[in-house]
Amino acid sequence: MNALTSHNVATRELLLTSDRAQFQSLVDLDNIDSVLRGLLTIEEMREAGSFFTGQELAERALSRLSAITSSSIVLDPTCGAGNLLIEASKKLGVEPTLSATLKVWGQVLWGFDIHPHFIEAAKLRLTIAALNQGVEQDCDLEEAFELLPHILMRDALTVSQIELEKVTHVLMNPPFVIMPSPRKDYWKDGKVNTAGVVLDMYLRILPKGCNISAILPDVLRSGSRYTEFRKFVASSFKAKAEIWGRFNRKTDVDVFLLSGVTSASKNEILWHSLNSDTESISDYFDVRIGPLVAYRDPEEGQEYPYFYPKICPKWERISEVIEKRKFSGTALLPPFIVIKRTSSPSDRHRASATLISLKEPVVVENHMIVVTPKDGKIGTCKKLMRVLQSHKTNSFLNERIRLRHLTVGVIKDIPFSEVR
Ligand SMILES: C[S@@+](CC[C@H](N)C(=O)[O-])C[C@H]1O[C@@H](n2cnc3c(N)ncnc32)[C@H](O)[C@@H]1O
Repeated sequence: MNALTSHNVATRELLLTSDRAQFQSLVDLDNIDSVLRGLLTIEEMREAGSFFTGQELAERALSRLSAITSSSIVLDPTCGAGNLLIEASKKLGVEPTLSATLKVWGQVLWGFDIHPHFIEAAKLRLTIAALNQGVEQDCDLEEAFELLPHILMRDALTVSQIELEKVTHVLMNPPFVIMPSPRKDYWKDGKVNTAGVVLDMYLRILPKGCNISAILPDVLRSGSRYTEFRKFVASSFKAKAEIWGRFNRKTDVDVFLLSGVTSASKNEILWHSLNSDTESISDYFDVRIGPLVAYRDPEEGQEYPYFYPKICPKWERISEVIEKRKFSGTALLPPFIVIKRTSSPSDRHRASATLISLKEPVVVENHMIVVTPKDGKIGTCKKLMRVLQSHKTNSFLNERIRLRHLTVGVIKDIPFSEVR
């Protein structure tokens, strides 16, 4: 991963010419994302988890921290090309010369990354950020780099508690790539999001009272796989969760900000601002994933009417057989509603539903969620169709789950009352 090598070389040359007119674009937090996109394919960026925080989100993340002064230590454990550190440096002001400025910044700003070219870019850009504020260039680049000793190539996941005992603030936008579970504490087998593993580890080793502002993928806030993660976070972090939305225009992943102070006491984190006291779908319906996995389940056993997303038009009622398929697993007796699992906050309706009202057992594919009324009545299904179409349900789902698919848990929680 030598992505930024050529960019770093060009930046060094520019520094030698002292062409200050060009400096602004080099420290522009939005620009570095475009630079990286020009050098790497989207697959390579995903693999490295190298999506750099833009200006607006960096400002928001910083605004959630307590004051940063020359006696603070601000760490970004996965700093990339230093965007969050550059934003933090703006809180520190400058001294008359580059060396005096970096002497202060170098003690406050700490950053780790596993890629040396990102570390080089972070140091170059912090040097430029200082020059950009009009300080006198009284030292060469080598000396400037030596004045930033805590920005270094490190694996964030191998750092120890003692190394972090003086850290006062943490800013992070850890990689969102999927990694094998650490398989300790509450982490079960399988694959998990690296961002969760990084936050988990830092909550365990940072000193109490440390300020953290973390940019995290929405799956950690709303995904059913991360319930235990959320419980752990609440037990060690007095924090507030805030939905941000899409990471940036080019990156189709929704993020939220989690910010607060590390604390040993049990805390309540409001992962979403919805009232859990109201009645919900689970009070009146059974909710499950369609039992048939098309690519896996052999076409044997009894033949049933068969439903999958393509043949289920939104908001319509189907009372006749369209297709049939053999299946030896569980068949389900209508009436019920099927909801397509694929769903995005940009869709007009998040829960796209169809009423199935055949009078015989049918099979449903696993790309659909099946919602069966406990009273067995078509009227209750119709009520649910209206609820799912409503603006209120859309707002609920957009607040609750920003992922590109719906879960059984979130459908169960959709507010629904019998009296409508
Ligand atoms: C999403 S980017 C964020 C960079 C920066 N914090 C920002 O907001 O612009 C995540 C960064 O984590 C780095 N990274 C991945 N695994 C790491 C690890 N184990 N230790 C340290 N850095 C890591 C990647 O190289 C990448 O630069």
